[in-house]
Amino acid sequence: MAPVDWREAWKTGVTPWDAGASPPALRSLLARGVVPSGRVLVPGCGTGYDLATLAHEDREIVGIDLSEDARAAFLTGHPDLPGSVIYEVTDFFSYAPAEGFDFVWDYTFFCALDPNQRSSWAETMTHLVKPGGVLATLLFPFEDPISGTAGPPWPINTELVRGHVQSAFLDLEVAEVESSHSGREGKERLALWRRREP
Ligand SMILES: C[S@@+](CC[C@H](N)C(=O)[O-])C[C@H]1O[C@@H](n2cnc3c(N)ncnc32)[C@H](O)[C@@H]1O
Repeated sequence: MAPVDWREAWKTGVTPWDAGASPPALRSLLARGVVPSGRVLVPGCGTGYDLATLAHEDREIVGIDLSEDARAAFLTGHPDLPGSVIYEVTDFFSYAPAEGFDFVWDYTFFCALDPNQRSSWAETMTHLVKPGGVLATLLFPFEDPISGTAGPPWPINTELVRGHVQSAFLDLEVAEVESSHSGREGKERLALWRRREP
């Protein structure tokens, strides 16, 4: 399968993954107080609903995406966000901020990447999440066992992601989610990983 041209997808408005709002599981995490203050990263943030949902005076939120058009859609949709919410057009795999993050939120990013990029995803996450910080993955489309081999989105599960992160991250929580976007019910699981201390 040819690699996805994400910039072209955004330019031509072919964005079938865009649910128009943050997933209920993110709101639930916030309500439970799981998202810390400090620096928060949302890789492959698309239209950036999650940046707005995560915005808080005690947090510096950084969203990154490859597409300038995605950023434009974010700015149009969220004109009034505080300056502590930043959207950078950059490649996740070469993103090297001066400081790491206390919390990283991955929803429909890992599953969108070509499977041969997964090891690089894990390596990059290891550099981006501060020791003791949390990598939160809302796994979609969740399959156990994985039956399909087509994507994106490529079906994923906890074992698959654990296999990539376990050398640098500890299991913190794996849970079913109470609620999902319409059409995604039963296909999401929450997995939180704690970055190991050196
Ligand atoms: C399936 S979409 C999900 C967007 C968003 N998370 C959502 O749930 O609506 C994947 C996003 O990742 C972005 N993306 C893909 N590869 C990327 C990379 N290497 N660096 C940064 N963003 C990337 C794409 O442009 C796209 O917006």
